[in-house]
Amino acid sequence: MIGRGGVITGYGIGLPDKVVTNDDLSLTLDTNDAWIRERTGIRERRIGGTTSGLAIEAGLAALKKAGRRPDEIDAVILATTTPDQIVPGTSATVQDGIGITGGAFDVNAACSGFVYALTVAHGMIAIGAERLLVIGAETLSKITDWDERSVSILVGDGAGAVVLEAVDGPGQLMSYKLGADGSLRHLLKCDHGGYLYMNGKEIFRKAVAVVVESAQQAIAEAGLTPDQIDLVVPHQANLRIISAACQRLGIPEEKAVVVIDRYGNTSSASIPLALADALDTDRLQAGQHVLLTGFGGGMTWASAVLKWGG
Ligand code: UT7
Repeated sequence: MIGRGGVITGYGIGLPDKVVTNDDLSLTLDTNDAWIRERTGIRERRIGGTTSGLAIEAGLAALKKAGRRPDEIDAVILATTTPDQIVPGTSATVQDGIGITGGAFDVNAACSGFVYALTVAHGMIAIGAERLLVIGAETLSKITDWDERSVSILVGDGAGAVVLEAVDGPGQLMSYKLGADGSLRHLLKCDHGGYLYMNGKEIFRKAVAVVVESAQQAIAEAGLTPDQIDLVVPHQANLRIISAACQRLGIPEEKAVVVIDRYGNTSSASIPLALADALDTDRLQAGQHVLLTGFGGGMTWASAVLKWGG
């Protein structure tokens, strides 16, 4: 697709130590472990820390794995919908904390943010960047009303990061599809000083449709068919959404990476957390095709097909 491409050379994660189980939540909320597991696939989530703190932890781990120093990074791109402050961007805190000398900016495309950021990073590499640190980090717990059960049972905190390096030739990214429908922004929102609100049922319906459509487009644009996808790294919002999307795409559910059981919905951190899990468990080999696909507030959605290795 492009003459100069990007290859992921390192990855890392950052998670709070505190584990909150479904049983813990049912102590203060009118809910129970069976309902949460059956309706969402979530068993527990991590809660705590700051978005910048988790991002720094993930970023340092990714740099270590890539064998790179902070001063070799041209820019840090932080996907987050829960910045530590409104101004400056949380990427500035991350840049300083890691000791990166290059640029820093935030991307907010809610839960699609990491795929948006990774796509932007590939574009920067195409016009000359050598090495970028792309992070998805969230502390959704900070904008959650813990006295209300509809959202609080879903969310978790965490971060995942990758180092993307330039190579001659096409690199890993075979195709991408970024989409949005701002007329649906009322379905998932958080006003200044408020709490996260979502219309779960409507998002569920729309999510399956846009994930399937954008994934089909990205797969076709990569010159592939769904049976040639070896691994799906989906946004972790609800196990039933992942199952329904795989079924409609005609991709066996076993090919989907699932970490929602351990981390809940971590918005833009969920795809890099799932990717790291797949790599740690040797589920992704050189030459295989991986589909990253997500959706979230905006509504936004994003799918990308990568050919691993390179
Ligand atoms: O990152 C992207 C953004 N978010 C999403 O993708 C969320 C997408 N939506 C969902 O995941 C699901 O819609 C939810 C998990 C949020 C809700 O699942 P649902 O199957 O749509 O449940 P529901 O809202 O239709 O509620 C079913 C029942 C209701 O009771 P009645 O009316 O049938 O008596 C609710 O009051 O379950 C009740 N309920 C609960 N019960 C125990 C709702 N929340 C809870 C709860 N514990 N936490």
